[in-house]
Amino acid sequence: MLTAHRGIPSKAPENTLSGIRLAAQLGARWVELDTQLSKDRIPVIMHDESLDRTTNGTGLLREKTLDQLRMLDTGEWYKADYSGELFPILEEALEECKRLNLTLNLELKLYPGSDPEALAERVIELIQETEFPLDKLLLSSFSGDALIRCRELMPDVRRGFISDRTDFSLNQTLNEIEPYSIHLDHRILTPEIARDIKGTGVVLAIWTLNEPEKAEYFFNMGVDNIITDMIDQF
Ligand code: G3P
Ligand code: MG
Repeated sequence: MLTAHRGIPSKAPENTLSGIRLAAQLGARWVELDTQLSKDRIPVIMHDESLDRTTNGTGLLREKTLDQLRMLDTGEWYKADYSGELFPILEEALEECKRLNLTLNLELKLYPGSDPEALAERVIELIQETEFPLDKLLLSSFSGDALIRCRELMPDVRRGFISDRTDFSLNQTLNEIEPYSIHLDHRILTPEIARDIKGTGVVLAIWTLNEPEKAEYFFNMGVDNIITDMIDQF
């Protein structure tokens, strides 16, 4: 399996509705998006802590209300063709994924000072409100606290623990998360680690692989899902 990381940032602005649509058009069946809370606690779609790189605004996302975020442009920085792209809210992204029949790997993105439990609570509320199909959803995070809260609120939702370290299995938190999948930085994955993870029966994903010629090597190692910025090239 392949996952379109933040949509298809090699061809459209990341974490936007246009990016989701283009990824689907180019063959994606899975898409990964990052979600965070606005100041008024609305889950929105963006990767960075700061607005500077992917919008025409400045400052920290969590210090802006949704009304303030909706005044920004999230496409212009990428290419003039995308100017006017609205700051996406999670609700819209969920509806778009549903419409396109995509499976969503939604990353709960936390930065120092943001509240993992509040994010988990608001995300789960929206999943319930939109009746998003759970067989088309995976909630992932580097934050054990966020995933544990997701588990408490919605035990049936699949959870993916993201890590850029290999000593995570020593972490007690993992027992509490009960992950469906582990998502590792592909640069640290070795055949031994892959074997250990697969031996526990957990699904193995890697991020972010942008070298299609290496896909076979990782699939042969037991990787189930490759997360990539350039899904059209695989
Ligand atoms: O889903 C894995 C990957 O997205 C984690 O890293 O920084 O791209 O969100 P990042
Ligand atoms: Mg991510």
